[in-house]
Amino acid sequence: MAKTAHPDRYSTVAILLHWLIAAMIVTNVGYAWYANGLHGLEKIPPLQIHKSIGISILLLTLARLAWRLVNRPPPMPADLKPWERLLARTVHVLFYVVMIGLPLTGWAMVSASPTIKIYPINFFGYGHWPAIQALSSLPHDQMKQAHGTFETAHGLLAKLIVYLLIPLHIAGALKHQFIDKDNDLARMLPFLRGLGGGAKT
Ligand code: HEM
Repeated sequence: MAKTAHPDRYSTVAILLHWLIAAMIVTNVGYAWYANGLHGLEKIPPLQIHKSIGISILLLTLARLAWRLVNRPPPMPADLKPWERLLARTVHVLFYVVMIGLPLTGWAMVSASPTIKIYPINFFGYGHWPAIQALSSLPHDQMKQAHGTFETAHGLLAKLIVYLLIPLHIAGALKHQFIDKDNDLARMLPFLRGLGGGAKT
């Protein structure tokens, strides 16, 4: 098991993956909302980028989970109250569920679209990302039904991350930084190494 130089900080790889995935999620929500305001064929270019970023988020999240299994994250600060510990853990688990569930439902929705043969998923213009065969080969009626189900699930997971998880996560980080003043944020920042690391170090 690899050790970090600062046992109270996340490893450099975990920090990089955290901020990269965070930036990609925000960008991807932006592309989806932008596409929502367009009509007909205008939607296709931003949605193709949205799909490519979404699939990249899926792959990076799997890499992040694998990294986390081999390199255990630092323990939570010892002085957290039980409700803070429970809330933080719940939000973290839900983030992983959504970071996997959101791309999977998007991929499933697009695979179950009658237009998948005309507009296959074009991965950043480098080639086709495969559709989920079991969905793209369904009879028309079942395909429409599956498409509707995955579209609803995708929209609900998107609302969960945008309106609940991200605000709770940011509020928690800001509370620690500015109300508790325990420097907890430094555990996940790449540039505060010189301050001696994370909370209560
Ligand atoms: C973490 C990654 C992703 C995030 C954060 C995300 C977020 C969103 C959001 C916020 C919306 C708008 C939902 C609404 O207006 O109700 C949306 C729509 C959409 N997403 Fe994603 N998405 C992700 C991954 C994917 C993937 C991997 C695909 C396909 C391969 C995909 C395909 C779509 C499509 C086609 C729409 C438009 C649906 C419609 O027109 O009704 N998304 N996404």
